[in-house]
Amino acid sequence: MPDQYVISGSNVATLADSCGGYGLVDNAAIVVDGDRVAWVGSRSDLPEAFHVLPHIDHSGRLITPALIDCHTHIIHSGNRAREFEMRLNGASYEEVARAGGGIVATVDATRAASEAELLASALIRVDGLIAMGVAAIEVKSGYGLDIETELKMLRVARELGRQRPIRIKTSYLAAHAVPRGANADNYIDEICLPGLRAADAQGLVDAVDGFCEGIAFDTAQIARVFDLACELALPVKLHAEQLSHMGGTALAARYGALSADHVEYATDADAAALAKSGTIAVLLPGAYYAIRENKAPPVQAFRDHGVPMAVSTDWNPGSSPLGSLLLAMNMACTLFRLTPAEALAGTTRNAARALGLDDCGVIAPGMRADLAIWKVRHPAELSYGIGINPLHTRIFGGHA
Ligand code: NIG
Ligand code: FE
Repeated sequence: MPDQYVISGSNVATLADSCGGYGLVDNAAIVVDGDRVAWVGSRSDLPEAFHVLPHIDHSGRLITPALIDCHTHIIHSGNRAREFEMRLNGASYEEVARAGGGIVATVDATRAASEAELLASALIRVDGLIAMGVAAIEVKSGYGLDIETELKMLRVARELGRQRPIRIKTSYLAAHAVPRGANADNYIDEICLPGLRAADAQGLVDAVDGFCEGIAFDTAQIARVFDLACELALPVKLHAEQLSHMGGTALAARYGALSADHVEYATDADAAALAKSGTIAVLLPGAYYAIRENKAPPVQAFRDHGVPMAVSTDWNPGSSPLGSLLLAMNMACTLFRLTPAEALAGTTRNAARALGLDDCGVIAPGMRADLAIWKVRHPAELSYGIGINPLHTRIFGGHA
C-alpha cells in the first residue's frame, strides 16, 4: 500500500460528532498519510493538493473507525460449559461461584497452562476480533490470583500486540476473586499489592481493575488497591454494580476511574458521580444475557447526566463467552435500548476513552488511520444484523 493515498466514494461515519450522532459524510474521501488520517470530508471538497495521490475506490461501502473492545478476559485456559449446564438446571452465577466453580475454576486451568498455550488460545480469539474490524483490545489478568500467574498473563497480553497488528491495553486484575481458602484482606496485602508493584516494575500494566461484589471484594478492599495504583500513577477501572449495589461506581468516580463496568445496579446518584469524574460507563450485554440478569443498566440516567457509554464483549469463559463485538452492539440495542448510534460510539469513540486512548475511535485529521470498511451502506446495519460479519477490510495504522 502506498504511504499516502485517498479512500474515496464510500459513506463515512466519523463519530467525530460531539452531539452523539454518527458524524455521517456521504460520498466521502479520507486522505491517509502514513499511519494517520490527514483529511476527511465530502469528496467534492477534497483539496486540490490531494488529487494527485493514488485513489482507492470504496463506492457502495461504509467506513467507520476500527472497533475497540475495551473489556476482555481473552487470556484464559479451559471453558466452563459445565457451569452453563448447571445454570440451566437452576443454579445462579453466584451459587456456582460459592460452590467453588466460577472464576476460581478458570484460575486452576490458567495456572496449569504454559505461557505458549495461553498465547496460542488467546491469538485465536484476537484473530476473530481482528476479522471483525477490531484494532484495539483491552486484556485483563485476573485468572492467576498468585503473583507468578498474574505476571504470566500480562506477559502473554503484551506478546499478543507483538504478534498481531493490534493495540493491546493491559489491566491488572488480581482483585478479581478470593483464591480458595484465602482470607480476602490477607490476599490483598500479600498477593494483590506486591503483585501490582512487580507487574508495574516490569512495564506490564496500563491500568488497574478490580471486582467489587459480594462474591469478590468490598469497597474498602478495592480502595487499598486503587491507592497503590495512584501511588504508581496508573489509571483505574472497576467491575462495579454487576450483581448488587456495593458502592463500587461511586468509589470508581472518586478515584477518577477511566471506566466503571457492568453497572447494572448503578443508581441515578452513581450516574451523576460518573458524569462529574468523566468516567465511562462500560455496558456488557453479553454477561447480562449469559447469566440471565434481569436488571438492565440505567441507560436513561447515563444519558440524562451525560455519561458516555461504551459497549464491550467482556469475553470470558464464565459470564460472557461472547466472541463478537458486533453481537455485543446488537445486544446493547435490543436488551438495553441503546440506539445504533450509541452502540457504535460505544465500540469506537467512547471505548477509546475507556482505555485512555486519545488518538483513535474517531476519524479526524491527526488521528490514527485505524479504519473498518464495511459491506453495508448505513451504520445502523452494524447493530441491526445478528451474528453477521459484514467487514470488507480493516485498515490498521494506514495498512490493510
Ligand atoms: O466481567 N465480573 C467479574 N468478572 C467477569 C467474569 C469472569 C468469569 O466468570 O470468569 C465479568 O463478568
Ligand atoms: Fe469482566
